[in-house]
Amino acid sequence: MPAQMQDPEYVKGAFAEIADRYVVTNHVLSMGVDVLWRRRVASMVRDFLGRGRAGRVLDVATGTGDLALETQKKCPDASVVGADFCEPMLEKARGRGLRETVVADALDLPFADGEFDAVTVGFGLRNMADWGGGLREMSRVLRPGGMLAVLDFSLPRGRLLRRVYRAYLHRVLPRMAGAMTGKRDAYEYLGGTIERFPSGEGMCALIAESGFVDPVARALSGGIASIYSAARAGG
Ligand SMILES: C[S@@+](CC[C@H](N)C(=O)[O-])C[C@H]1O[C@@H](n2cnc3c(N)ncnc32)[C@H](O)[C@@H]1O
Repeated sequence: MPAQMQDPEYVKGAFAEIADRYVVTNHVLSMGVDVLWRRRVASMVRDFLGRGRAGRVLDVATGTGDLALETQKKCPDASVVGADFCEPMLEKARGRGLRETVVADALDLPFADGEFDAVTVGFGLRNMADWGGGLREMSRVLRPGGMLAVLDFSLPRGRLLRRVYRAYLHRVLPRMAGAMTGKRDAYEYLGGTIERFPSGEGMCALIAESGFVDPVARALSGGIASIYSAARAGG
């Protein structure tokens, strides 16, 4: 498959099938650190909006709402909208307390230009058919100066950790996740998408080409995941 050709129908179907077990599987496979990573993004949003300030936040590819729910908790005065094109995942998000959800394709968001103060996306951009297109849509719906935060897996820089991580990703994870969800192929797909997805400077360059300024990359847990933040141009 060419670098950016994640098939949307495959992605939607794969997440619909694992929606019931997605949250638990994630926590087991990451040994719980995924929760801390999302909390860090939610804190960045809170610091950007300012404590106690109302604001409008969009979580793109929200899935079961994990990141949107953390943001809702940390920013109780903000209105947090979770958007995803997979309704079974959104149903879980609503059941877990996410107040606003919208069925929407990230590449064609049903929101007005500049409607949001902050846009987040956790483990979602990597699954899109067009990464630049997804980022440009996020830029369009952000107000000038608004904050973007992208959380996703990346490959560690250190050679030894990279080798261990790759062995886990391609050998251990599909087996464990396959046993937990019955969908081993969805987790073989996961390892492939992580290998193809840009990280570090490559991702910062893509963000800068897509309507943002001042991109910053923060490596998490030795670089197995990263948070990228940037400001919508024109602020
Ligand atoms: C790995 S889950 C991430 C869920 C959540 N953000 C989290 O932090 O766990 C990826 C989600 O991206 C969604 N997704 C992928 N491509 C999308 C697109 N083009 N438009 C909307 N949602 C998309 C999938 O349906 C899935 O729910």
